[in-house]
Amino acid sequence: MKTHNIGIILNGVTGRMGTNQHLIRSILAIRDQGGIQVSPDEVILVDPILTGRSADKLQALAAQHGVERWTTDLDGALADAHNLIFFDASATLHRARFVEKAAAAGKAIYCEKPTAVDTETALRLAKVCEDAGIKNGVVQDKLWLPGLRKLQMLIDQGFFGRILSARGEFGYWVFTGEHQGQPAQRPSWNYRKEDGGGIIIDMLCHWRYVLDNILGNVKAVSCLGATHIPERIGEDGKPYAATADDACYATFELENGVICQFNSSWDVRVRRDDLFVIQVDGTHGSAIAGLRKCWIQPLGGTPKPIWNPDIDQPIDFYEGWQEVPDATNYDNAFKIQWELFIRHVVLDEPFRWSLREGAKGVQLAEAGIASWETRKWIELEPMDT
Ligand SMILES: NC(=O)c1ccc[n+]([C@@H]2O[C@H](COP(=O)([O-])OP(=O)(O)OC[C@H]3O[C@@H](n4cnc5c(N)ncnc54)[C@H](O)[C@@H]3O)[C@@H](O)[C@H]2O)c1
Repeated sequence: MKTHNIGIILNGVTGRMGTNQHLIRSILAIRDQGGIQVSPDEVILVDPILTGRSADKLQALAAQHGVERWTTDLDGALADAHNLIFFDASATLHRARFVEKAAAAGKAIYCEKPTAVDTETALRLAKVCEDAGIKNGVVQDKLWLPGLRKLQMLIDQGFFGRILSARGEFGYWVFTGEHQGQPAQRPSWNYRKEDGGGIIIDMLCHWRYVLDNILGNVKAVSCLGATHIPERIGEDGKPYAATADDACYATFELENGVICQFNSSWDVRVRRDDLFVIQVDGTHGSAIAGLRKCWIQPLGGTPKPIWNPDIDQPIDFYEGWQEVPDATNYDNAFKIQWELFIRHVVLDEPFRWSLREGAKGVQLAEAGIASWETRKWIELEPMDT
């Protein structure tokens, strides 16, 4: 049996994403399944080392999950040749210096999105890795959600005919923390621009890779942001000023002419199929995908509504949709991408979700903010080289 045992530095791992999606649902899940079985006689084993600032938190997390290695000495972890991969899930504004440090140490780099809050920095990180010939990647987890994989399958099968438009609705009510019994369910930095917060930088990064990969390359954006709730309560129980946008209303024009309208908001209550749904309408059919499920309505099954407000609506519009069945197993989206990245590093398999692709997400977010500020459409500059 050929066994690769690779050290993986998980930095910022005590945070929400680091702990849940990356440590528990991805790396430990890979460890617990016996590694990545490449063939009957080749396996890749993962050996995480947890890094961060707080020894107490790291020690507790490591003990809770049976992880042997943790340290507050990131330089020491980077100096250890056993650690092939550096992963960062720290708060966004710290990402650049961590990535540059790890690149200087020659590690393969994988990190959360956004890679930065401005395109210049995001591109610099991509170039640092490219120039040094370092393998690199950015989390683009939504691409492996079952709902979006089903949507991709429908597109590949030609279900839609000519795709005309897509509308995305993302959001839910994030409690302000001011009412006893309703604590906020997101970290407060999300609502402070000076700490890298804001829904535009958060969500337009996602919408860029979702659209580029599934529906077509984004060409231009028009975006209106808002800070609907100007004050929230922080982790310390004290009020703070919400300086970042908490909702945005964006239209994207794709190179292939498809028009996409996406609302993203932390100030909406949900009466739809999921926290994120995307509806795609084509000449021969439509689909609505949520995180895990997807429903279709072909042209031949499309009802004929007639506008008549004097009677109750005779059509149950939910009835005319068929659910796309699960025809395969859907593993955790973050874990799937982790496995692809690890295979890229160890086996040299292709991996196209690079820091440069991540920079395109930052570019769309920055353009969205510029569009809001100037009240104009913004065309995106090509970024492929
Ligand atoms: N892919 C996704 O869907 C998704 C979802 C949410 C967040 N994110 C991204 O993940 C990152 C973390 O977000 P989160 O929601 O987990 O936030 P969080 O506040 O829960 O976690 C941030 C982590 O960074 C650590 N940190 C802060 N400063 C640090 C420093 N100087 N050195 C080392 N560690 C430091 C914190 O201790 C904490 O562990 C953000 O960049 C965010 O944009 C991605």
